[in-house]
Amino acid sequence: HHNDNTQSGNDPNSGIKTLTSEAPLPAQFSATLPIPKQLQPTRQTSDTDYYDIVQSAATAEILPGLKTPIWGYNGTFPGPTIVQNPGRNVVVTHRNNLPVPTVVHLHGGAIPHDSDGYPTDFVLPAASYGDFPAMPAMGDMPAMTDPQAVVTRQTRDYTYPTPPRAATLWYHDHRMDFTGASVHRGLAGFHLAHDAEEQELPLPQGSRDVPLMIVDRAFAADGSFRYPALDPAMRSTPGVDRDAGNGVMGDVILVNGAPWPAMKVDAARYRFRILNASNARTYQLALDDSTGFTQIGTDQGLLAAPQQLDAIALSPAQRFDVVIDFSRHRVGDRITLTNQLGSDSTGVVMRFEVARTATDTSSVPATLSTVDPIDPSSSVATRTMTFHRAGTDWEINGRVFDPTYSEADVRAGSTEVWTVTSDFHHPFHVHNATMQVVSRDGQDPGPYDRGWKDTVFLNKGEKVRIAIRFSDYKGRYVFHCHNLEHEDMGMMANFTIN
Ligand code: C2O
Ligand code: CU
Repeated sequence: HHNDNTQSGNDPNSGIKTLTSEAPLPAQFSATLPIPKQLQPTRQTSDTDYYDIVQSAATAEILPGLKTPIWGYNGTFPGPTIVQNPGRNVVVTHRNNLPVPTVVHLHGGAIPHDSDGYPTDFVLPAASYGDFPAMPAMGDMPAMTDPQAVVTRQTRDYTYPTPPRAATLWYHDHRMDFTGASVHRGLAGFHLAHDAEEQELPLPQGSRDVPLMIVDRAFAADGSFRYPALDPAMRSTPGVDRDAGNGVMGDVILVNGAPWPAMKVDAARYRFRILNASNARTYQLALDDSTGFTQIGTDQGLLAAPQQLDAIALSPAQRFDVVIDFSRHRVGDRITLTNQLGSDSTGVVMRFEVARTATDTSSVPATLSTVDPIDPSSSVATRTMTFHRAGTDWEINGRVFDPTYSEADVRAGSTEVWTVTSDFHHPFHVHNATMQVVSRDGQDPGPYDRGWKDTVFLNKGEKVRIAIRFSDYKGRYVFHCHNLEHEDMGMMANFTIN
């Protein structure tokens, strides 16, 4: 017997309000699935690839005929995909051409402290802006309560050493108190790490290895994204005690930035790297031909062996790498990716249209990788973390985020077992570490918990034991709820690796 997102009987989105679009919405499947561009290095040395990204305001035609103001890495949403090849280091120089300070976090990496995107390690705007009327709450200068805050002007180099495993990582903004609003505007992209072990596998690759970034948004009549703190109507809504309530959800599902898109596929196997980059919404994905998915990977890389799943529960920030075999279908067949936790417009994600027959030499081997189970008795410390709502604050162990306070001092490279409890649904994320779920309410973890995770879903009222292996990089890092509104309202804490 086991518990997981779907079997606990809790709806992980309950208590979170869905904003409604005022703009006319396109017919589902009328958009073509965009594939984010792969970023090309500006220079290369024997062991390092160098990239440049400019963070800038832009517009995107997401709804036909309307221009949506976005903030994007290189002006695009999603941002360009960074590919990190085996044995290569990556250095990304970010220039901030936005009107607010920014912070870049590579989610899921083992990263030296000064490149991790600590929430007060700001890159200040390159230009000085006057009032930015569209977003009054966002022109604030950095909170300078943090004596260790690092402020760089205009550009910052982020150094990403070769990751320990091939994995579907992603990068996104992480500015203290404003992560939700900044990611919602579009500051998110894929970072795909490869390794030699993965490259030797006969998995689908090239144009049949496709990242899918799923988010939900609501649109104002002029096509702009609705976000509560920017939205006078929401601020005065009775019962919404903080601007963002329990989290921000929208009624439109975007995949790679397009509403309910369609993708033409060969009658062949595809690998999809599915990322939930939504601020607050949890999905349960399924295929309407009920053939299900072959899961091959999770947040931190390949599973030991593939597993067959009818549905995938995906909380914010989690990744599932799956293979779908469209050779089961005839040319002309259409298969819809649905969201069993959605209703009406949010119950549909995208559609695959089998366009042609094709040869396919790929396969899914019975052994993918090695995932050594962490032995909880190797843990050098146990701790309890209580995720708790106190009035309008979201707290961990009775505190909202305080950059000067360290909740835990841990040893580099060590393993600890944390027992995490919560009185709401929270995606629990730890920086610079990798995790395995040990138990949920004393039961074995469920199928969605398999493999190395960096984000573990906490069901309301559940007690989850998690083995955490910290990286060797020392310094101050954060762990937090990845419901970005909870994070911005305080549900984040420091730990220090010594
Ligand atoms: Cu994806 Cu600290 O976050
Ligand atoms: Cu939360």
